[in-house]
Amino acid sequence: MYLISNREMLHHAQRSGFAVPAFNVHNLETVQVVAETAAELQSPVIMAGTPGTFSYAGTDYLVEICQAAARRYNLPLALHLDHHETLDDISAKVRQGVRSVMIDGSHLPFKQNIQLVRDAVRLCHRYGASVEAELGRLGGAEDNVVVAEGDSFFTDPAAAAEFVDQTGIDSLAVAIGSAHGLYQGEPKLDFARLSEIRQQVSLPLVLHGASGIPEEMVQRSIALGICKVNVATDLKIAFADAVKAYFLTHPDANDPRKYIAPGKVAMQAVVREKMRICGSIGKL
Ligand code: 13P
Repeated sequence: MYLISNREMLHHAQRSGFAVPAFNVHNLETVQVVAETAAELQSPVIMAGTPGTFSYAGTDYLVEICQAAARRYNLPLALHLDHHETLDDISAKVRQGVRSVMIDGSHLPFKQNIQLVRDAVRLCHRYGASVEAELGRLGGAEDNVVVAEGDSFFTDPAAAAEFVDQTGIDSLAVAIGSAHGLYQGEPKLDFARLSEIRQQVSLPLVLHGASGIPEEMVQRSIALGICKVNVATDLKIAFADAVKAYFLTHPDANDPRKYIAPGKVAMQAVVREKMRICGSIGKL
């Protein structure tokens, strides 16, 4: 098996009324957890990496590890470029085998966002890679990209139609109130806006910042057209908390195979739960 685009997965999800979970991975262990769980539960899955993750792990390592996981479990796997901002960076990674791309021009004025995304689509489609783009701007923090609440803004449904039409993207990330990282208090999602966007465009929609969003809100978003649900923070917290707890009871531990193991178990429980919430179990 090799790395695939997310196009077929998301269309399958759209036709069947579920969402494909996209989990941010960072290294061998996090890829192992996601692949093993996807195989066990027969769930389609996307492994996502920010530019920071690809720099940390090395694109060559990450591509090879994900390909090995796809072969080992006979899984159609998408390794996805999460929030990538430049064509040079995307081009280099697509040439190394990545087939699922997000070009994030959400910080740019509308017309410039369109131009950047259109160029990314032209580049990626030559390689059969799928392209996701964001309209509106999510608040919160992911890696070193921090968007203050005042700088975030929601997706305008009418603009979404023009954006999709002018760019030729395969999926659209919407800003409807979710945020990257931890929420202060209960998140509020603008479901009316999501339905309006759905009426304007027919392509698969993407929900970023799904950590900390209650189950019923995620499921309502899926019923209204969300086909890809991005999760990072909830996995990191589960993993780190379990490793911290292990060190509290084993202060002299020094074998990474031992102290990392509880982190993987805790992360796996979250991956399973998110697959259940997304309705993706058994949908491979
Ligand atoms: P969270 O860290 O809030 O889950 O967001 C993940 C995400 O949207 C990745 O693009």
